[in-house]
Amino acid sequence: MKEQLEAIHKSALESVSETKAATDLEALRVKYLGKKGELTGLLKQMGGLSAELRPIMGQMANDVRAAVEKAIDEQSAILERRAMEQRLASETLDVTIPGKKLRMGHKHPMYSVLDEIKDIFIGMGFEILDGPEVELADYNFTKLNTPDDHPAREWSDTFYLTEDSNVLLRTQTSSMQIRAMETRSLPIRVMSPGRVYRKDEVDATHSPMFHQIEGLVVDQGITMGDLKGTLNAVIRKIYGENTVTRFRPHHFPFTEPSCEMDIQCHKCGGVGCPTCKGEGWIEVLGAGMVHPKVLRGCGIDPDVYSGFAFGMGLERLALGQYKISDMRLIFENDVRFLEQF
Ligand code: PHE
Repeated sequence: MKEQLEAIHKSALESVSETKAATDLEALRVKYLGKKGELTGLLKQMGGLSAELRPIMGQMANDVRAAVEKAIDEQSAILERRAMEQRLASETLDVTIPGKKLRMGHKHPMYSVLDEIKDIFIGMGFEILDGPEVELADYNFTKLNTPDDHPAREWSDTFYLTEDSNVLLRTQTSSMQIRAMETRSLPIRVMSPGRVYRKDEVDATHSPMFHQIEGLVVDQGITMGDLKGTLNAVIRKIYGENTVTRFRPHHFPFTEPSCEMDIQCHKCGGVGCPTCKGEGWIEVLGAGMVHPKVLRGCGIDPDVYSGFAFGMGLERLALGQYKISDMRLIFENDVRFLEQF
């Protein structure tokens, strides 16, 4: 029995010192010290020993057991320490490694231009209004003195959302003129930017969705002089103090008289160049005195009140400001393009 105990002692200490994982160590504990383990098995045979030998062998078996237990505990501590060291090594933080750069976005160039224009209008006492892109035909056309047989109402020009053509994607922000006149108390001084939609094919200067800025002033004694003065002041703030402007007669159903405003080409000074397509002038907006029929339709007496309205395309302004040649770049959201601003 002595030899057996010594053999167990020896092999147990050896295999324990070789273990590399906590699970292997646990297996060894079971193998030697468990209920059906080798040492336990030997202890069960003690009964067969003589009375003198029994205590000696018992003592020896206990010593072996203690030694194996101690070895297992020590090895377990070693394995734990090793695991911790490995973790520390693999999880080290090198605080000198440069951080990952977060790419910060910035305002879209068109919205920078819009913010600039809003500031100009706010400075002149205008209120900024937001309006629905899904609009009633009444507001987009009828109340703007644009009757059923007007070409702008064609199915090929407008995105209708209902069979009866009563609901559509607004084709102009002028619908906000009506909404402002119906809901505001007089006098009115509002500007309303937003998206508008037309059935246009996409090319360098067209898109089925684009942005307009609408303006409306209604008060007693408003004249064409106010229209020209206000728009000249706005345009000079946008394009520079020395900008030369002109007003040309035009037609819109909801203004009378109507006009378009041009600026003299800043590239060629009016001689004619590719930027102004040889014209010397660049059209910037449509405007006019609010038609008496439109005022009356909104419950405003045209004999007491008058007003002017204007509408300009935001994309064209942004293209001009940033010297961008193709409108598609504004909408494509290619970061390589947008990063330049
Ligand atoms: N809504 C017109 C357009 O889209 C522009 C306009 C606005 C004209 C206000 C006159 C008054 O062309």
